[in-house]
Amino acid sequence: MTLIAFELNGAAVRCDAAPATRLSEALRSHLGQTGTKSGCDAGDCGACTVLIDGAPACACLVPVAQADGASVTTVEGLSLSAKGMRLQQAFLARGAAQCGICTPGMLVAAVALLEREATPTRGQIEDALGGVLCRCTGYAKIIDAVTDAAAGSIHEEAMPEQGRAVGARIARLDGGPKVAGTEAYGADAIPADALWVRAIRSPHHRAGFRFGDLDGFVAKHPGVVKVMTAQDVPGRNIFGVIPPFADQPVFAEGEARFRGEAVAAVVGERQVIEALDPSAFPVAWEERPAVLSIASALDAAAPQLHERRAGNVLVRGHVEKGNVDSAWMQAAATVEGTFETAFVEHAYIEPEAGWARRVGGRIEITASTQAPYMDRDDTAAIMGLAPEAIRIIPSACGGGFGSKLDLSVQPYVALAAWLTGRPAAMVYTRPESLQSTTKRHPAIMRSRMAATRDGDLLAMDFEGDFNTGAYASWGPTVANRVPVHASGPYVVPNYRANTRAVLTHCVPAGAFRGFGVPQTVVAQEQMLDMLAAKLGIDALDFRIRNALTDTTPTVTGQVMGDGVGIRECLEALKPQWMALRRAADAFNRTSDRHKRGVGVAGMFYGCGNTSLPNPSTIRFGVKADGRLSLHQGAVDIGQGANTVIAQIAADALGLPLALIDLVSPDTDLTPDCGKTSASRQTFVTGTAAERAGRALRQKLLRLANAGEGAMLSLDGGKLVVREDTVVRSVDLAGLPRDGHGYVQCAEETFDPPTSPLDANGQGMPYAVYGYGAHLAEVEVDTRLGLVKVLRIVAAHDVGRAINPSLVEGQIEGGVAQGIGMALMEEFTPGRGENLHDYLIPTIGDVPPIESILVERASSAGPFGAKGIGEQALIPTAPAILNAIHHACQVRITQIPATPDRVLAALKTRTA
Ligand code: FES
Ligand code: FES
Repeated sequence: MTLIAFELNGAAVRCDAAPATRLSEALRSHLGQTGTKSGCDAGDCGACTVLIDGAPACACLVPVAQADGASVTTVEGLSLSAKGMRLQQAFLARGAAQCGICTPGMLVAAVALLEREATPTRGQIEDALGGVLCRCTGYAKIIDAVTDAAAGSIHEEAMPEQGRAVGARIARLDGGPKVAGTEAYGADAIPADALWVRAIRSPHHRAGFRFGDLDGFVAKHPGVVKVMTAQDVPGRNIFGVIPPFADQPVFAEGEARFRGEAVAAVVGERQVIEALDPSAFPVAWEERPAVLSIASALDAAAPQLHERRAGNVLVRGHVEKGNVDSAWMQAAATVEGTFETAFVEHAYIEPEAGWARRVGGRIEITASTQAPYMDRDDTAAIMGLAPEAIRIIPSACGGGFGSKLDLSVQPYVALAAWLTGRPAAMVYTRPESLQSTTKRHPAIMRSRMAATRDGDLLAMDFEGDFNTGAYASWGPTVANRVPVHASGPYVVPNYRANTRAVLTHCVPAGAFRGFGVPQTVVAQEQMLDMLAAKLGIDALDFRIRNALTDTTPTVTGQVMGDGVGIRECLEALKPQWMALRRAADAFNRTSDRHKRGVGVAGMFYGCGNTSLPNPSTIRFGVKADGRLSLHQGAVDIGQGANTVIAQIAADALGLPLALIDLVSPDTDLTPDCGKTSASRQTFVTGTAAERAGRALRQKLLRLANAGEGAMLSLDGGKLVVREDTVVRSVDLAGLPRDGHGYVQCAEETFDPPTSPLDANGQGMPYAVYGYGAHLAEVEVDTRLGLVKVLRIVAAHDVGRAINPSLVEGQIEGGVAQGIGMALMEEFTPGRGENLHDYLIPTIGDVPPIESILVERASSAGPFGAKGIGEQALIPTAPAILNAIHHACQVRITQIPATPDRVLAALKTRTA
C-alpha cells in the first residue's frame, strides 16, 4: 500500500491503496465516492469517466498512482461549478437520465466539453460524449440537455396543479439522485464487512466435471471462508421465471449445459476473492459434444439436454384461423422467405450486482432486479424457506430490458449470507454478465403471405424456431407470444403460425424488449413490402389498407372495440414518407456509390402476460401530517414508473402530485406490482393506481359527507373539502390510524381481463395492445457495405401520454436498440464477451429521431393509456431493412445487416 495524495472535487484527499489499483476502484471503495460507475473495467463503456486535471479519462484504466498530485473531478463535484450545475439541471429537465447509470460519465464528459467550447454543435457534442455508452435514452435527450445547458435555456416544468398531472411533461420524480451521482445501484451500498462471492463457471459449452479437494482449497487460501456447491443448497437446486418450466440449477450437477454455467462459488474476504485465479479452483472438466444451433439441436442424433424435453423442443406455440391452405388458391400474389436473427445482448451498463444479509431466520437481499416478488418466491424455494422469510429490496437498476427478470446474484448471495452469517456480496464482471445472463432468442423464420388483386391480405403461414439456450427462462413466453403477433397489426383472415422453443447448449435466451416479436417483424414487415411491390401498391398504402381497426378481428379472433391506433400511426408518417422517398430517388439518380432509401414498418404489441393473470396492487394512504404515501411496487428501471404511476394516482385522487411521497419497491413495504416487463406497468399498475386514487377519494369525500364533485385539499394536518359554497374541514390528527399508520388508506388491485386461448390460439390474450409505425431513412455505401441511418420518424399510439417526455424517452431508446439489432449486434457464445467486441450503438450511430405521439384512448387503460416500453423497439429494424431494399434493391434476410452481409447481398444482385 502507498499513500497517494490528490485533490478530489476541490478537497485534498489521501488514498491508502496499492499503486496499480484502478482509480475508479480507489474512488469507489477507498474514498466512498460511488458516483463514478463501473460498467466494464476495460475502457469500453465510459461509465467511469472522470476529469483528471480537467481532461476526461476512463478511471478504470488509470492506476490510482497516476492521480498522485493531480486534480480529479467526479460527478459528486459537478455541483461546485456553474456549468456542472446547469448540466445537472438540464439532464433532469430534459429526461436525459433514464436508469441513470451512464449519467455520471455523461455529465463529466459534457462539463469538460463546455469548459472548452461554450456553444458546441451537435457534432462536437457527439465527439465529446462518443466514449460514453448509454443503453436507455438513444442519446437524443442527452444531446438536447447539453445544448440547453450551453445556451443557459433550461426549461424546468413546474409541478402540475391539482388535477393536471396526467399529460404533464414533468421531470422524473426520482431524477435528483441520478444527476447528483448519489443513486445507489446494486454495487454501490455494499457493507464494508461483506464477504464476496465468485462463481466458478464452465469454460465449455457442455462439460462433465469432478471436484477435487474443496476443503483443502479452503484451507490453502487464507481469507477464503467457504466453497459452495449444489450440496449446500438447502431447498431445491432449481430456479426459473415460469414455475412449471423451472429447470435451471443454481449450481450444475453432473454436467454443465452452457459456457458460463456456475458449478460452484467461492466465498471469502473481498481482496482475496478479487485476486482469486479461478483456474486454480480444484475442478476437472470433461468437454462433451455440444449442440449450439437450432438445426443441430433438432437433429435426431443430437444429445438431449433435458430428459423431459423430447427432441430438444421445450415448448410449441400455435395460432390458426380460417383456412390457410385453400386461401392460396384465391391469391393474386404470394411471397415467401426465410429470415434469421441473432443472439442479442441486453448490454445494460450496470452488470448484475447485489448483496444479502441474514436477519435472524430471514434473509434480506438488495439487488438490481426487475421482479422483486418473483425473486422472493424463487429464492425462497432455493433456500427452503417460506416466501415471507425473504425480503427483496431492489436497488436502483442500471438497465434491465428483460434480463434482470431472471435471477442472477440473488441465490448466491443469499446462500453465502445464510451459511456464513455475514453479509455477502456479488458483482458480475462484464464477461461474466455476457457469458451467463439471458439474451434475445435467435430465430429462424419461414413465412408465406398472400393477397388479393385489390391489395387485401388473404393468408399468412408462419413457422418460427427460437433458440432458447440450455434452460427454459422465458422460452415458453416467446413461443406463445410470437404466434399471436406474427401477423403484425393487420387483418389476416386466413392465418397459421407455429413456433418452437429449441433447447441448445447456449446461454439461456430470455426476455428482451419484445419477447420474440422484434424477430417476427423482421420477416413479416419485409414480406409486406415484397407483396406490395408484386401488386404494384405503395408499401405504406398497403399497410394502411390492411390495418386493424376497432371493429376488425386480430388473428386470435379478438375485436378490441376501441383504441386501435395503427392506422393513425401509419397515416402520420405519410407526408414524410412521400417527400423522403422522392428525395431518395432523386439523390440516387446522381450518386453511384452511395444510395439512399426510405422504409416503413408497423407493429402491435400486447401489454402484459399472454392469457395469464398478472395483477398489480397499489396502496395509497393519507398521513396525519397531510401528506400522501404511494406504495408503488413497480420497479423503475429507467422507464419512469415512479413518476407515471404517481401522476395517475394524483389525478385519480384529485390532489396535487407534489403531496405524494413514494414508498419504493420492497417486498416488506409495497404490495406486489408484478414484474417490470411486457410493457405492463403503465397499463396494469397504472390502472391499480387509478383505482386506488379513486377509492381513496371516495373515502375522503365520505369523511366530509361530500359528493363526487367536491374539491379536496390538504392543508397541513387538515383535510379541506369544498362543495359549492360549503367548506368542511377535518382534523387528520384526530382520526384513528390503520396498521400502516395512515388515517385513510385504499388498496386496489387490477388484473387485466383476458381469456385463455383455445387449441387454435383463439381468444383474448391481452386486454390492450400498443401500436406503432416507424419510418427509416438510410444511406448505403455500396462499396463498403456500410449502412448509415439518417433519420427515424416514430409514430406510436400510446392511448394517453401520461408524461410525454418519458414516452419520447422510451421511443428514442427503443429506436437505438432497434438500430443495434438491425445493423451491428450479434452475440456468439464463447466469442466477444466484452463491450469492445460486442458493439452497441454509440451517440454517433443514432440519427435524429422524430417522435409522433398518437393518443387513441383505450377504455381499459388508466386515463386511456397503453404501454410503450417494448413497442418502441419493434418496428425499427424492419423499417431499416426495407429502407436498404429501397436504396439498393437487396433483401437482407439475416440480421444484423453487417457490411459483409450487405456486400454479399449486393454481389448476388449484380451476379
Ligand atoms: S468501467 Fe471504465 S470504461 Fe467501462
Ligand atoms: S440512462 Fe444511459 S444507460 Fe441508462
